[in-house]
Amino acid sequence: MADAAPASYPVFAFEPHASPVLASERDARLVEPGFGQVFTDHMAVVHYSTERGWHEPAIRARAPLSMDPASAVLHYAQEIFEGLKAYRLGDGGVALFRADANARRFRDSARRLAMPELPEELFLESCRSLVRTDADWIPPGPDGALYLRPFAIASEAFLGVKPATEYLYMVIASSVGPYWKKGAAPAISIWVSETYTRAAAGGTGAAKCGGNYAASLAAQAEAIRHGCDQVAFLDAAERRWVEELGGMNIFFVFEDGSLLTPPLTGTILPGITRASLIALARDQGLTVREEPYSFDQWRVDAASGRLREVFACGTAAVVTPIGTVKAAGGEFQIGGGGPGQVTERLRASLVAVQRGAAPDPHGWLERIA
Ligand code: PLP
Ligand code: COI
Repeated sequence: MADAAPASYPVFAFEPHASPVLASERDARLVEPGFGQVFTDHMAVVHYSTERGWHEPAIRARAPLSMDPASAVLHYAQEIFEGLKAYRLGDGGVALFRADANARRFRDSARRLAMPELPEELFLESCRSLVRTDADWIPPGPDGALYLRPFAIASEAFLGVKPATEYLYMVIASSVGPYWKKGAAPAISIWVSETYTRAAAGGTGAAKCGGNYAASLAAQAEAIRHGCDQVAFLDAAERRWVEELGGMNIFFVFEDGSLLTPPLTGTILPGITRASLIALARDQGLTVREEPYSFDQWRVDAASGRLREVFACGTAAVVTPIGTVKAAGGEFQIGGGGPGQVTERLRASLVAVQRGAAPDPHGWLERIA
């Protein structure tokens, strides 16, 4: 379903905000932005119809949408999204991290949700144009970044159950600091849900669609009821194999320094942070296995001390140590309950590349002119 774009693509028309936030007010909002609460002045918009394909790409003032209440997305959840960050580099420049991988994953998600695939160059140019326009919204400080949220929704007003013929693709941007609340413990606690699963074979687990997150919320609420920060899911078939968290992938670090992360078998999101950490770890001579790991084995290895560290990773959460694991059958600690050395070293290597403070042998950074 890759669609030819009109000749004007990928030049985004620019309609600047008539009354952008004052610089002094913006700077005040950037002091402690949290995650996903502070939004920039502009957004990118591209329309799609089966007749015209992708058309009218524009950067314009961020504003509420006006939608027909019969819009398909509101009923049947034909929606996909992405999450990526733009960083301020040490020399004052701005760069996107692996946006091409997000563009590819967005197409993969579109195929699974029977939506038209956005050409990758259009995805990339929408992100570049928005970052160029709102670069002043990148918060200062070591955790500051501009979190981009590209998404597409079925906008056709029709209640029949079928792929829509009209869509809206947009990118909004949020000034973010750390994902976790200030003062949070150095390591998070997770609840392994034996009540809920996230995805089954043949389902939408590998796609980044809103429905996966809606379905994870009851499980996340269960985690919070048990005093945990995040939920971790087991596989839907055997309820045995560790899959991922509600919005992060997971890695295990063993006493010999090797790492293990669940394989991409179609039920977990193929995280770009996951792929980057696998590459960085291998660059550093570490062994990384992409293999199934059972919850029973996890318990045994934590008790024996063979398992030294566990961490979660994703664009929003970067690399976050997991210190406590709880489930219906009881609770156990990982290592000393705080960040481990391998976790810390990988986090530092990743962040150094993202912020242009280390060489970028894989060509992951794209500087925005
Ligand atoms: N798994 C899920 C379910 C996610 O929502 C995310 C976040 O996007 C990830 C994993 C990590 O993916 P990435 O590293 O591409 O952000
Ligand atoms: C991300 O890391 O970009 C995510 O999508 C996780 C969550 C904020 C949905």
